[in-house]
Amino acid sequence: MATDTKIAQNISSGTELSGGAFPRGKNILAVASGKGGVGKTFFSISLAHALSRMGKKVLLFDGDLGLANVDVQLGLMPKRDLNDVIRGRLSLDKVVQRYEDGGFDIIAGRSGQASLSALPSQRLAMLRDMLIELSDEYDAIIIDLGAGVDRTVRMFSACATRTLLVSTDEPTSLTDAYAFIKLGSAAGMSKNVSIVVNMASSKAEGEKTYKTLLKACENFLRLSPPLAGMVRQDPKVKETIRHQTPLLTRSPNCEAAGDIEKIAQYAYKAMLEEAKALMRAGRG
Ligand SMILES: Nc1ncnc2c1ncn2[C@@H]1O[C@H](COP(=O)(O)OP(=O)(O)OP(=O)(O)O)[C@@H](O)[C@H]1O
Ligand SMILES: [Mg+2]
Repeated sequence: MATDTKIAQNISSGTELSGGAFPRGKNILAVASGKGGVGKTFFSISLAHALSRMGKKVLLFDGDLGLANVDVQLGLMPKRDLNDVIRGRLSLDKVVQRYEDGGFDIIAGRSGQASLSALPSQRLAMLRDMLIELSDEYDAIIIDLGAGVDRTVRMFSACATRTLLVSTDEPTSLTDAYAFIKLGSAAGMSKNVSIVVNMASSKAEGEKTYKTLLKACENFLRLSPPLAGMVRQDPKVKETIRHQTPLLTRSPNCEAAGDIEKIAQYAYKAMLEEAKALMRAGRG
């Protein structure tokens, strides 16, 4: 499998950030995917919004460092972003921006910035540590990651309390989600992964997609990642992205919005349980 090989190469070239006892946050949810374009950014924004509507204090962090587009989907023009942090001009808390419409905070990335997409390991680890420190100020931090399992993804996924792995029912997306779990687990990061099936044509189809992935994980990896939930294919999603407005503002009663609200409840609860387990293990 070509993706398998590509991701494996990435892993072997950056093991310094994987395995061992990582610093982990108690309230960090990472949103990842094997294949690109499956809806991570849309889902991350909507999840942050849903949690904020549940009364939680939320920060959405654009962790797709060199190809950031949280700001694009929301039609924002950030005055400060991660580039200022990486260049040492500002501390992480100083680039937090309030997104009033959604009632949550955002840290924007910078698209097309080579220095962000190829950060040296030490800088990346510094960024992670600053984010964990900042997490004390919030009930939940959502990290929108880039696709695949590169060094940045592995590090942020490893510091997350739980990773929500997004897949669609397309065979390539499913294969890459499986590769993410397999290679991520080899790198010591994927124990706390839950699956989100996005763009499901129906609840039954979404369930079927999850079962296909679960079966492969159980048979070949002896892992049983739980289902966080599914988000149905909904024309309102494209519409809302075109209008650069969050789904829960523009179409709060559509199917996809209801699906995401359910996942937000699941994810928050799973995160609290995980945080308790971390505390018990003395790593919180
Ligand atoms: N539930 C859904 N129903 C309909 N369309 C959807 C749904 N979820 C996502 N999409 C479509 O998928 C497109 C890609 O979404 P998004 O940019 O969030 O993906 P991504 O995984 O972040 O991509 P990348 O890997 O490039 O960062 C959106 O523009 C939207 O049109
Ligand atoms: Mg994205």
